[in-house]
Amino acid sequence: WPKDVGILDLEVYFPAQYVDQTDLEKYNKVEAGKYTVGLGQTQMGFCSVQEDINSLCLTVVQRLMERTKLPWDSVGRLEVGTETIIDKSKAVKTVLMELFQESGNTDIEGIDTTNACYGGTASLFNAANWMESSYWDGRYALVVCGDIAVYPNGNARPTGGAGAVAMLIGPNAPLALEQGLRGTHMENAYDFYKPNLASEYPLVDGKLSIQCYFRALDRCYTSYRRKIQNQWKQDGIDRPFTLDDIQYMIFHTPFCKMVQKSLARLMFSDFLSSSSATQNTSYKGLEAFRNLKLEETYTNKDVDKALLKASLDIFNKKTKASLYLSTHNGNMYTSSLYGCLASLLAHHSAQELAGSRIGAFSYGSGLAASLFSFRVSQDASPGSPLEKLVSSVSDLPKRLASRKRMSPEEFTEVMNQREQFYHKVNFSPPGDTNNLFPGTWYLERVDEMHRRKYARHP
Ligand code: CAA
Repeated sequence: WPKDVGILDLEVYFPAQYVDQTDLEKYNKVEAGKYTVGLGQTQMGFCSVQEDINSLCLTVVQRLMERTKLPWDSVGRLEVGTETIIDKSKAVKTVLMELFQESGNTDIEGIDTTNACYGGTASLFNAANWMESSYWDGRYALVVCGDIAVYPNGNARPTGGAGAVAMLIGPNAPLALEQGLRGTHMENAYDFYKPNLASEYPLVDGKLSIQCYFRALDRCYTSYRRKIQNQWKQDGIDRPFTLDDIQYMIFHTPFCKMVQKSLARLMFSDFLSSSSATQNTSYKGLEAFRNLKLEETYTNKDVDKALLKASLDIFNKKTKASLYLSTHNGNMYTSSLYGCLASLLAHHSAQELAGSRIGAFSYGSGLAASLFSFRVSQDASPGSPLEKLVSSVSDLPKRLASRKRMSPEEFTEVMNQREQFYHKVNFSPPGDTNNLFPGTWYLERVDEMHRRKYARHP
């Protein structure tokens, strides 16, 4: 089998316009700090009616292929993870084939995968499984994930966002998936779902969704820990696995505060499975909660407070940097986790990352979740794959800073337009292409047969 299959390169796309969360707090007449401190969100990116899931994915794939200068026929598999469904039959993947047309490469496996925010991870697993199978033909795989996260006016609206990530998958990767280490939890829940095909908006039971996320996290971590300890035992290592064995930890990020609480939960899980004699100074202040079960703590504010305090240092070291894109752009659903990965890489040098383990928790409502990990290569020398990967995302903060700030009134107007034009036929989306980054694909026309035509902004 090929060795060290994983992420060779990665490209991120987000809209060129955003609304500031402090402006939104005032506009929505909620208490100051509710979105910025309570949810941990600073800004939220949003798309005009000129962008849809196809245009987002076209843009991110084009950007990746142009930057890496890879021949279009070097790709043998292309997977798309999304929950932004505009057609119940035709996959986004088929639209992306347009980019490959000129090269004549039509021998590309893979289609779309959907379950809320988990589709990107399922696609990544599919791509890696293909590469480690007898069907692999020696070429790269592309994993594309993207979504437009929009909610109706109300409590959930500030947790929206939009974006896409494309990942180049291959052997000898600087971020190699650790084999045999996936802790998965799946169950039937109605926490967030999209039964209304005439609307872009989900139905969401916010409080239930938070409990489902935490439960999935706890279960996935327990399975992951068991699996790694079993691997260690075979190598003669007999000690408990803890968060100390993960140098960086990234999470699916519906909003940033949720992630800070999630990292704290992992520490709590370690604490509960340790003996009371364990001398770990991080566990200071937690002894009062030793007799609780994990599931008894999801809504316990005292536990919340103690855990956030006890885990602050490790949050700052292991996770905070990964939230840069999420806090400035919001939830990107399937691409959220991989946006966190890009943010982490953008805020650390190759030397800092070399040799480390990056834990990753992927959650999709409904629900499907996995905790898995990447091993970062040791070689951080100039020109190494790791150094190239890190430098390719280093302009993320600069790109975010170059977006246009829109008022809450303008944002609301765009949301109303998206409602008005959703599934409309025989129209050209109104709007100004100056609100797009150069090189962005956009929706030019939808004809009377729902056929969509795209153009590229120069
Ligand atoms: N200053 C500081 N903090 C404040 C504040 C203020 N003035 N006012 C309120 N807060 C705090 C609250 O105390 C609360 O924090 P804690 O939970 O830590 O106590 C936080 O701000 C949020 O306040 P509320 O709980 O009152 O918020 P809400 O009920 O209005 O809505 C929400 C929050 C449920 C997350 C809602 O935004 C929502 O439904 N979002 C969509 C669903 C979602 O994101 N779920 C997450 C898990 S599901 C998932 O991960 C899949 C996915 O991507 C959607």
